Amino acid sequence: MCGIVGYIGTKKATPILINGLLRLEYRGYDSAGISTIEKDGLSIMKDKGRVKNLSNIPGIDDLEGTIGIAHTRWATHGKPSKENSHPHMDNSKSFSVVHNGIIENYNELRKFLGDNGYTFYSETDTEVIPNLIHYYYSKDNNNDDEKLLRAVRSAVLDLKGSFAIEVISKFDKDNMIVVRKDSPLVIGTCEDENYISSDIPAILSFTRDFYLLNDLEFVVLSRNNATFYDKDLNKIEKDTKTIEWNASAAEKDGYEDYMLKEIHEQPTAIRETIGSKLSEDAPIEFDELNFNKEYLSSLNKIYIVACGTAMHAGLAGKNAIEKLCKIPTEVDIASEFRYRDPIIDDKTLCIFISQSGETADTIAALKLSKEKGAKTLAVTNVIGSSITREADYSIYTHAGPEIAVASTKAYTSQVVLLNVLALYFTQILGCGDAKLNDLKKDILDLPRKIEETLKVCENIGEFAKEVYQEHDVFFLGRGIDETVAKEGSLKLKEISYIHSESYAAGELKHGPIALIEAGITVISIMTDSKLVEKTVSNIQEVITRGAKTLVITNQKVDQKMFDKTIVIPDTNPFISPILSVVPLQLFAYYIAKEKGLDVDKPRNLAKSVTVE
Ligand code: F6R
Repeated sequence: MCGIVGYIGTKKATPILINGLLRLEYRGYDSAGISTIEKDGLSIMKDKGRVKNLSNIPGIDDLEGTIGIAHTRWATHGKPSKENSHPHMDNSKSFSVVHNGIIENYNELRKFLGDNGYTFYSETDTEVIPNLIHYYYSKDNNNDDEKLLRAVRSAVLDLKGSFAIEVISKFDKDNMIVVRKDSPLVIGTCEDENYISSDIPAILSFTRDFYLLNDLEFVVLSRNNATFYDKDLNKIEKDTKTIEWNASAAEKDGYEDYMLKEIHEQPTAIRETIGSKLSEDAPIEFDELNFNKEYLSSLNKIYIVACGTAMHAGLAGKNAIEKLCKIPTEVDIASEFRYRDPIIDDKTLCIFISQSGETADTIAALKLSKEKGAKTLAVTNVIGSSITREADYSIYTHAGPEIAVASTKAYTSQVVLLNVLALYFTQILGCGDAKLNDLKKDILDLPRKIEETLKVCENIGEFAKEVYQEHDVFFLGRGIDETVAKEGSLKLKEISYIHSESYAAGELKHGPIALIEAGITVISIMTDSKLVEKTVSNIQEVITRGAKTLVITNQKVDQKMFDKTIVIPDTNPFISPILSVVPLQLFAYYIAKEKGLDVDKPRNLAKSVTVE
C-alpha cells in the first residue's frame, strides 16, 4: 500500500526522501512524488511509475530544501497518473500534503469545498485535505505559532476513514505536522534531525530511536524537536522506543533477493522468537500475559483471526491449542469474521495474528471482538504497530524486518510462537503430560532442523526448471499437512503467477481430480505417519492420470513412485509445518526466478494491506 517518508533536518532532504521511498518500494506502489520547502516556496515533483522515474525528473537534483515529504502511491481513488500522484497541494499552493489511507467522506468534503470556491485537479480522496487546511487557515485570524497546527487539526477532525498524513506549508518554513489514524506512521529521531516513515526498516539506517503515535495525536516536528498534542491540542509527553533490529537486517546482505535471505534467516528467526520463553527444564514464561487457570478454564472458545499467510499460521495454532489444551478453537479470515456476526462474549479469547500489525481487516476484527466483550491477544512482529495498541495483550515474533512481500520467516515464527503459547496454556491448565517435554525439546531443536531442511532443498531449483512453464499446480496434504499445502499454494501464486489450488488430499476424488491430466504438477506433503499411506494412495491416482509429482515427507515412502521426493528431518507433528513449508517456499522462489519475475515485489500485491 502507499508509503510515506519525511525528513526535517540540516541536510538536503531530496536524496534522503528518495532513498526512503526506495526502501518502501516493497510495500507496493504505482507512482511516487516529493515536496520540499524551498527558499521561494513549496516545490513539488511527482510522476507515475517507479521511484527511478521520479529521481530522473529534470531539476530534482537542484532542490535545496532541508524539509520535505514524500510518497509512493498505490492507486485507490483514480488511476495511476501524474495528477493523482502525491503530494497534493491546495489551490493557492500554500500547503503540501501526502496521505496514506482512505478518506471515506471525500465526496461530501469535495462538495463542501466546491461550494466554497475550491477546484480539484485530481480524482483522489487526498486532495480535499490541503484544501480543507487552507479553508481553516484562512478563517483563523490569530497569527501565532500554532496557526498551522490548528488548521491541520480542524481539517483532520472533518475526515472519516483512515489516514497517516504529513503537511508542510510555505507559511511555516521550519516545521512539519504529522498525524495518523488507523494507518501506520513512525517518527525516527536523532540529533538535529527527524525522520518520518510508514514503517521502521525504511529509516533504520538513520536511527533506532522512534516515537510511536496513537490515533489522532498531532506532532509538530522541527529540526531538533518533536512536540506532541492530543486531539484537543493539549500538549502530551512521549518517550522514544529503541528498536532492536539492526540496519543490516533491512539489507540484502549478499543475497540476490530479500525473499531468499528471509527464507535462510528462519533458523535465527525461530531461535529469537523462542528466546527465553521456553527451555527444557523451566516453566514457560510469557511476561506479557497474566492468564490464570480460572480464566483459561472458563473459555468457551478461542478464535484465531488473521489474513493470508498469517491465517495459515493460525491453522497450525488451532491444531496445537485444540489438541494440547482441549479448548475449541476456530480460525477465521479477518475480512469475513468482521462481517459475519461471530458469537463472542466475555468467555471468548480472540487471537489476532499479523506480521505487520497494520492489516486493516485484522484490526477491525480486533475492535469488533473487544466491543463484544472478548479479551484480545495480538501476535505480531512489529513493536508498537497499530494492532498492539488496540489489543489487551501482545506477544511478539522476533523475526526481524520482513521486506519481501511474500511472507516466509514471519509464518514459521508465528507457528512456533503459537505452539509455545499452547504449551503455556497447558502449563496453566495443568493438563500437560510427559509427552509435552518431548515437544519442548523438538521446538528447541527447530533451528538446527531448519538448517538441515535448507540443505536437503539445495537442488529443488532443478525441479522448478522442469515445471516452471506449467499452468496449474495442486498442493495436497492431510491433517496438519493440509494447512501447509494452503501456504505452499499461496506462496506459488503470489510470486510466480501460476494458478494453484490446495486441497485436503481425501477431497481430490470429490471433484478436483477431474482437472488432473498430463501437464499438471501435484505437490504433496506427508509428515503424519498415521495418514501417509492414505495420501500415497491419493497420489497414485494423480500419477495414473499423468500428473508430475513432488513429495515432501519425513516418512518412509517408495520414492521411485514420484518424480521428485524431498526428505525433510523428522519432528513432532505439531511443528512439522515449520520444516515442511521450507521446500515449498523455495519451490515458489525458484519458479519465479525461472520466469524472470521480481520475487520481492510481485505484481498487484502490497506488503502491508492497510485498507479493506
Ligand atoms: C502472503 C502474505 C500475506 C499476508 C497478509 C497478512 O505471503 O504475506 O498473505 O500474510 O496480507 O499480513 P499481516 O501478517 O501483516 O497482517
